Amino acid sequence: MQTLDKIADLRRDLDTARGQGLRIGLVPTMGFFHEGHVSLIEAAVHDCDFVVTTIFVNPLQFSVGEDLDAYPRDAEGDAALAAGAGCDLLFVPLPGEMYPSGSESVLTSVSLGPLAETMEGRSRPTHFAGVATVVTKLFFLIGECSAYFGEKDYQQLAVIRQMARDLSAPVNVVGCPVIREPDGLAMSTRNVYLSVEERDVAPVLNRALSHGAVMISDGERDAERVRTAMAALIDEAPVGTLDYVEVADPGTLEHQSVCSGESRLFGAVQFGRARLIDNISASDVSGDDDFTRKEVTAGNER
Ligand code: PAJ
Repeated sequence: MQTLDKIADLRRDLDTARGQGLRIGLVPTMGFFHEGHVSLIEAAVHDCDFVVTTIFVNPLQFSVGEDLDAYPRDAEGDAALAAGAGCDLLFVPLPGEMYPSGSESVLTSVSLGPLAETMEGRSRPTHFAGVATVVTKLFFLIGECSAYFGEKDYQQLAVIRQMARDLSAPVNVVGCPVIREPDGLAMSTRNVYLSVEERDVAPVLNRALSHGAVMISDGERDAERVRTAMAALIDEAPVGTLDYVEVADPGTLEHQSVCSGESRLFGAVQFGRARLIDNISASDVSGDDDFTRKEVTAGNER
């Protein structure tokens, strides 16, 4: 695996790969890899001939007071995991390479519409514009490819899919399932911020969503009752502050009043320094026992 930090070198290697007729795969990340990131690289390696993983902690998607400076980094560990997963090229630009005049002077942005306005968009108003800008740059840099994103950040995936379609990006956006710890906690770089107590309690987010999904699969149609039940479970936990729980249409992400057809359940909870998000499909559960039996873990979601 090669590691490059200059755009010109990246373009040269991609030209060579395309000249050989290779199908390009792209995995955009901010580094500090865990099994969720590795699963995206493996999916890209499975489908494509030449896989580029990018690591760039994008200042544009953090707002003032968020964890940009504290964001964990592990260049060596990431390189070893990427190479082990079969990545061909690791692109790790410095901020000056991506934003030569400084990220504050980036004045061009993509207007994203309603998908970016709910949930994460409401809690982090400038976040998706920052994500969309850097992903657009990556799509321009890489060109025709399949690009892999995790359903862990389901709203981000939806925003990027819509953006790629609306702007005719030559990119096939591929969504990959959430990878979880055995107790249901979605893997996340930000889990390292959790104290021992917070780590013990954090699976309550997934348990609450699973409980909501079981209510729906057991016939509950009133989405507000599902939201109330999920919020109550999170509120009962000894640590953690609920930001939101939502029951939404999986395509439009619109708030649902009635759970008819498909639903997706979303939640965000602040545990100390760590703001954790998760989501599951209402159809990810089945059976008729108490809710804990049907938790969705890495093994059975894939
Ligand atoms: P980052 O948080 O590093 O995540 C990189 C990719 O890994 C995203 O597509 C994310 O959804 C996926 N991912 C993270 N945890 C996962 C898990 N437990 N299971 C499956 N996939 C998981 O998301 C970003 O970076 C940035 O916003 C980025 C898209 C790179 C733009 O800067």
